[in-house]
Amino acid sequence: MKYCHSRLLVPQAWRHPSWPEVHDPIRGLSGSLEWRRRNGDECRCTDGQSASRLNSPGGCAGLTSFSMEVVFSGRPVRQGWRWTMPITPLSILGRLYGDQMRVHEDLHRASNAHRRSHRCDVYPSDLAQAPLWPLLATLVHPRRFLEIGCGLGYTAALMATAGGPGCRVDTIEANPLHADLAERAFAVKGLSSRIRVHRGSGKTVLPGLRGPYDVVFLDSDWQDYPRYLSHLVRLTRRGSVVVSANLFPLFGRWGNGPPGKNSVRAYLRGLIRDSPFRTYIVRGDWHAISVRV
Ligand SMILES: C[S@@+](CC[C@H](N)C(=O)[O-])C[C@H]1O[C@@H](n2cnc3c(N)ncnc32)[C@H](O)[C@@H]1O
Repeated sequence: MKYCHSRLLVPQAWRHPSWPEVHDPIRGLSGSLEWRRRNGDECRCTDGQSASRLNSPGGCAGLTSFSMEVVFSGRPVRQGWRWTMPITPLSILGRLYGDQMRVHEDLHRASNAHRRSHRCDVYPSDLAQAPLWPLLATLVHPRRFLEIGCGLGYTAALMATAGGPGCRVDTIEANPLHADLAERAFAVKGLSSRIRVHRGSGKTVLPGLRGPYDVVFLDSDWQDYPRYLSHLVRLTRRGSVVVSANLFPLFGRWGNGPPGKNSVRAYLRGLIRDSPFRTYIVRGDWHAISVRV
């Protein structure tokens, strides 16, 4: 059997509940699922799109079906399946945004792979949120960004790229391994001079920072969010934008978990009712975008 050398991790946009992903209960296998294109470089896309387009999350949006070999943790498990691609909102957005959704996509992929192998909490921001950072850069002309929850550096890299060579990003990370990996990635990308990783939790690092920051991104453990409110006020100026992720515990419908509903409620109450910010909560994504007035 001739394999194409490119290993294809299933992009988020292609996932479908009925597709085997990281666990195959029948064979008792766990690991990352790879699809190898069959017949070397020849991709059997029925609509005739080129093989390289399969490698991008947006590139598959118009694809209807194709033939693949499925390899699970290095072992072929099925051959010649014919997949029908669901046309998802993400794949449609991928087509609309084009390259904007592929900026630092390698770090997005690395974050997901790391989370799966380490069973940790590095959930990178959605690829479809990548265009938010150039949009904010155009609106706010930020010189200084602040992030709580660096992970492996996907969003910090997006901010640094959107802000351009003159901007600076301070990003806070509590997990030393994540901080190491992020710093390594920034060095490889030539972004080290723009991004500084502060090691420690938000509540210990924030008191030592001095503002003003133009754009702030909260993407860490939401149970600490209420403690950040006073710092958000102290570290911003009129016109600064604060993006708060991870608000889903308050709005999700999943019984008892995840914990921290009350923390998110307290944070949003403070942000909306008792702070100098105007706030819009994005339904579905459960992010909040706030502007200091
Ligand atoms: C959702 S991930 C961040 C993803 C990153 N912003 C991105 O989009 O790629 C959350 C990260 O925040 C870190 N973290 C969680 N709680 C934290 C806290 N209280 N202070 C600092 N970092 C925290 C975790 O170790 C993890 O790396």
